[in-house]
Amino acid sequence: MTGIDDLPIRDELRGKSPYGAPQLDVPVRLNTNENPYPLPEPLVARIAERVTEAARHLNRYPDRDAVELRTELARYLSRTAGLEVGVAQVWAANGSNEVLQQLLQTFGGPGRTAIGFEPSYSMHALISRGTGTGWISGPRNADFTIDVDAARKAIAEHRPDVVFITSPNNPTGTAVDAETVLALHDAAQDARADTAGALVVVDEAYGEFSHRPSLLPLIEGRPRLVLSRTMSKAFGAAGLRLGYLAADPAVVDAVQLVRLPYHLSAITQATALAALEHTDTLLGYVEALKAERDRLVSELRTIGCEVTDSDANFVQFGRFEDAHAAWQGLLDRGVLVRDNGVPGWLRVTAGTPAENDAFLDAVRELMKETSA
Ligand SMILES: Cc1ncc(COP(=O)(O)O)c(C=O)c1O
Repeated sequence: MTGIDDLPIRDELRGKSPYGAPQLDVPVRLNTNENPYPLPEPLVARIAERVTEAARHLNRYPDRDAVELRTELARYLSRTAGLEVGVAQVWAANGSNEVLQQLLQTFGGPGRTAIGFEPSYSMHALISRGTGTGWISGPRNADFTIDVDAARKAIAEHRPDVVFITSPNNPTGTAVDAETVLALHDAAQDARADTAGALVVVDEAYGEFSHRPSLLPLIEGRPRLVLSRTMSKAFGAAGLRLGYLAADPAVVDAVQLVRLPYHLSAITQATALAALEHTDTLLGYVEALKAERDRLVSELRTIGCEVTDSDANFVQFGRFEDAHAAWQGLLDRGVLVRDNGVPGWLRVTAGTPAENDAFLDAVRELMKETSA
C-alpha cells in the first residue's frame, strides 16, 4: 500500500501529523472553543433570504474584493474596538486560519522565520510549516504570561520575520497587555532594522470575551502590526468560515499578491453579512458565555483544581499527574475536553449552563476517584 512517505512530498512535511482535534460523538462536547448557542431563528431566516438572493447570481464570480462585507466588518470594529477603521484597513478570508496563511505566504516563506510564545495556538506553527516558514518556539513564564525580557532576547537572537502574539492566548486564556505588544513590536523592528522590519500579528480570535479592551488601537501608526479576528467564536459561526484582519492599508494591498481570486464565495459573503446585521443579539450570547467562563473558573477552584486566569471562552485547568488519563476519565463520563499537550493541564470550552454543570460533575467525580 502506498503511504504518504512514498509520495514525493516536501521533506519538511515528512512524518508530520495534521491538525486534529478529535470530533467524537459524545453528549457534552467542550473541546474546540465553539460557541454552544445555535444562531437565533430570525438570523437563520435572514441568512436564507440573503443566500437565496446570492444564489440568483451564482453563474457569476463573487465580489473579489468583498467590499460590502469588509465595510460592515470595519463598521463593527469601529463600533466595538475603540478605533475608527476604514474598509481599506480590513481584509477577510475563509476563517482566520486563511488570514494567517495569507499573511505567512506574504511575509514568511522559504528562508524566513516566524516566532510564537508557547504553549499557544498550534496552527501558527503548522501554517508556518505549510508555507515553508521556519518556526521558532519562544518562551513563557510558569504562569503562562509572556516573559517580556526572554521574548525580547529570543527576538534579538533569531531575528524573525513574523511575530505571533495571541491575546487572549489559546490554550491558556491569558490576555496580553498593550505594553507587552509594543515591547515585542519594537524589539522585532530593531532586530530587523537592516531590512524593511518584521510583521507582528496579534491574534485576537477570542478578543470579544476579554475583560480588557481590544488591542486594535495599536495598529494606528504601526504599519507592521496586524490584528486578526474571527466570526467563529463570538459570532457563533464556526461553520461559516469567516476571519478578518485590520491593519494599515498597505498590508491589505500586500496580501492581494497571494490571495486566490474569488476566494470568498458569494454564499459566505451573504451569510456573514446577515450575521453582522444581528451583531447585538450575538454579542448578548458573549456576555452569557463570559459569565459561564467566570463560573467555571471559580467552581473549578472550589473543587480543588488549579486554573489559569481566563479572558477567553475556555478555561485551562489542572494540574493532573497524567493529563491524558484525566482527559480519558472525563470522556468516559460523556464529556469531551481538549488535551493540548501542555503537561498537567487540560482545556474546557465554556458551554451552556447545563453542559458546564455536567462537566463540573464529571470533574468532581474524577477528583474523588483520583484522591481515593
Ligand atoms: C487563537 C486562534 N486563532 C485562530 C483560530 C482560527 O479560527 P478560524 O479559522 O475558525 O477563524 C483559532 C481557532 O480555534 C484560535 O484558537
